[in-house]
Amino acid sequence: MSLPTRVHLTEVGPRDGLQNEAQPVPAATKIELCRRLLDAGVRALEVTSFVSPKWVPQMADAAEVLAGIPRPAGVTLSALAPNMKGFEGALAAGVDEVVIFGAASEAFSQKNINCSIAESIERFRVVAEAAKANGLRLRAAVSTALGCPYQGEVPIASVVDVVQRLGDLGCDEIGVADTIGVGTAGRVKAVFEAVGAVYPLARISGHFHDTYGQAIANILACLEIGVARFDSSIAGLGGCPYAKGATGNVATEDVVYLLHGMGIETGLDLDRLVDTGQWISQAIGRVNSSRAGKALAAKRAVAVAG
Ligand code: HMG
Ligand code: MG
Repeated sequence: MSLPTRVHLTEVGPRDGLQNEAQPVPAATKIELCRRLLDAGVRALEVTSFVSPKWVPQMADAAEVLAGIPRPAGVTLSALAPNMKGFEGALAAGVDEVVIFGAASEAFSQKNINCSIAESIERFRVVAEAAKANGLRLRAAVSTALGCPYQGEVPIASVVDVVQRLGDLGCDEIGVADTIGVGTAGRVKAVFEAVGAVYPLARISGHFHDTYGQAIANILACLEIGVARFDSSIAGLGGCPYAKGATGNVATEDVVYLLHGMGIETGLDLDRLVDTGQWISQAIGRVNSSRAGKALAAKRAVAVAG
């Protein structure tokens, strides 16, 4: 077993973390969150989505948020774009990367993006061509790779099939997502090993929601088979409007605590992440879902009091 020495993390808090908030989060708060994440060393930041504001009202301010974010050298700012309308918005807003997002289950594809898997690939094909023509990085996400809220079990063959079709579109990276956080380590290894047979494992990332508390274990399982790219969300914020009951993504602070504890580099400043997690949780009136974030903040408070 040889673990990676460095892991690439994409921070998805501003997008996946906030898309499901019932109360509108002001654009200024989102911009401040992005600024703080960049200050903490984040170099891949999924900022927002160019999707229908009727479907996901919280992301309606996508262009405004992108316009307000500083752009230090070496930062990749990304946005979700399910179709050409979304792509055009993302391009105009100056993103570095667009994210097309499909599913391994038909039921989730219909609920989330209102079309079949086959139709989604055709919509993505034009987005992929446009991304390449404009020199943008292209990432894809595959939802429900470990289970579907509507269909239940999802065959590994379905995940492999979608990954292969997205790979054929020329994606630079493909994220394999446990949308509802049901996966356990053995199944996760089996799914990632299977997709690694049709697409380079070095360009596959793991996206784990933490509903059943398995996300950190699933990340370790991935590390053991050579996956070195993950998405995470500050303070464990998040959820998908079309996956009711699913909690947030694995918390960035928890992933960084794990990785740094194992001597694996991330380029991120854990102390600043802890501050940022505390700050955004307070700003939107949420309990911080990061175990490491809360523990480190509490330890500091004791040190200050003592
Ligand atoms: P549709 O209704 O089938 O689209 O929605 P349409 O092309 O028929 O257009 C209908 C209306 O939407 C039109 O407006 C379009 O202009 C507008 P109207 O004429 O009615 O006023 N429209 C758009 N507006 C803004 N931006 C766009 C856009 N496209 C059409 N890009 C669509 C199809 C995909 C747009 C819709 O289903 C949608 O927006 N879905 C939202 C999906 C979403 O954001 N889900 C959450 C993110 S995915 C996720 O969280 C999973 C992930 O984290 C991985 C994991 O955990 O699994 C990535
Ligand atoms: Mg997600």
